[in-house]
Amino acid sequence: MTKISGFSKLSKDEKINWVCEQYLKDTPYAKDIIEQYWNSDEKLQKLHDEFAENTISNYYLPFGVAPNFTIDGKVYCIPMVIEESSVIAAASKAAKFWDDKGGFKTEVVSMTKVGQVHFTFKGEYDDLKYHFEQNLQQFFDDAKSITTNMEKRGGGIKNIELVDKTQQLDNYYQLHCTFDTADAMGANFINSCLEQFGKTLEKVMPTEFNIEVIMCILSNYVPDCLVRAEVSCPVRNLADNEKDALNFAKRFKYAVEIANVEPFRAVTHNKGIMNGIDAVVLATGNDFRAVEAGVHAYAAKEGHYKSLTHVEVKDEIFRFWIKVPIAVGTVGGLTALHPLVKIALKMLDNPSAETLMRIIAVAGLAQNFGAVHSLVTTGIQKGHMKMHLLNILNQFDATNQEKEQAIEYFKTHTATHNHVVEFIKSVRS
Ligand code: MEV
Repeated sequence: MTKISGFSKLSKDEKINWVCEQYLKDTPYAKDIIEQYWNSDEKLQKLHDEFAENTISNYYLPFGVAPNFTIDGKVYCIPMVIEESSVIAAASKAAKFWDDKGGFKTEVVSMTKVGQVHFTFKGEYDDLKYHFEQNLQQFFDDAKSITTNMEKRGGGIKNIELVDKTQQLDNYYQLHCTFDTADAMGANFINSCLEQFGKTLEKVMPTEFNIEVIMCILSNYVPDCLVRAEVSCPVRNLADNEKDALNFAKRFKYAVEIANVEPFRAVTHNKGIMNGIDAVVLATGNDFRAVEAGVHAYAAKEGHYKSLTHVEVKDEIFRFWIKVPIAVGTVGGLTALHPLVKIALKMLDNPSAETLMRIIAVAGLAQNFGAVHSLVTTGIQKGHMKMHLLNILNQFDATNQEKEQAIEYFKTHTATHNHVVEFIKSVRS
């Protein structure tokens, strides 16, 4: 295997040939498989090719929908992009469970985004502070060409604060800046403003201060871009009879409390929440890495990693809620480019960023409800393996008839991997 220079300059065909020659020599039909995933519509394929660099193919993920979500009185069919079986089924089940109990209620607590200019200064803080305060307006004025459009859409720069960080790191100061980015996720807007602030900082400070701007970048930690979603009902309505309902409420609450005190459980608990959150973030063309990073930092904000969901049982009412930071957009980025993203947003009635935050939080809460419900009642594998059955059958190239037989059989038998394999062997022999 050799290294290559100028790879990015090669044509797509040359790139594929090189990769196949170097790394896929023993893989039959490698080039065919790569090309099989191209779109026959050349324009559409070009669009996808140009989303990133060195693209050689497309990587499909299932795009599914979870209908019947009543959120703040409005019914939604939520688009979800996810490869894991059971997630969409669990979401749909949770939507149905809560539908006759008032559905999901949400509240957007705040929508503030953050960015920072990190810089060094070796003099007296008071001198720095004095010059910063004297020139504060200049930062806003210099960024005017960037902010004008955003202001028209109701956003803009909210605040620029000088912060002394020298207790943490020698000579380290920052401009901690907050923004409202309206319906955009706002990464480009924030980063452009910050780079301008960096220049203004160097311009307005006396030369002898020797300010050195180290970097200007938005933060994906957005504890003030916060949304809350909740479900509640009388405890009695949680199951078919009072005894089961009380037992369920007790076990469910205890399970969430475990996730609050035990990080090993909390990470898996929150991973289940992210199954729902990421699936909607992806379907709507948003940056799931940004949301993931921000959510996990938020889960650890009190110094140890905790559950993002909470339960209260009080006055015979069961209340279950989530509070998460979700920085997403419904304009800009992929939202205007990717045809399926446009479809996903249209299905949601072209929501504002604020409404999308609510829907995403609900998807996370529903997912967690479904997972914890299974965990404290039947156990997770029953539903999971039922959904996973098709994946195992596909590994064995099962025919439609074999699939039908298997689905029928495993309605009354527990589907473990071995059991499914044995079943296929017996059907085929
Ligand atoms: C699997 O993707 C997610 C779960 O593990 C979440 C949980 O344990 O709460 C089922």
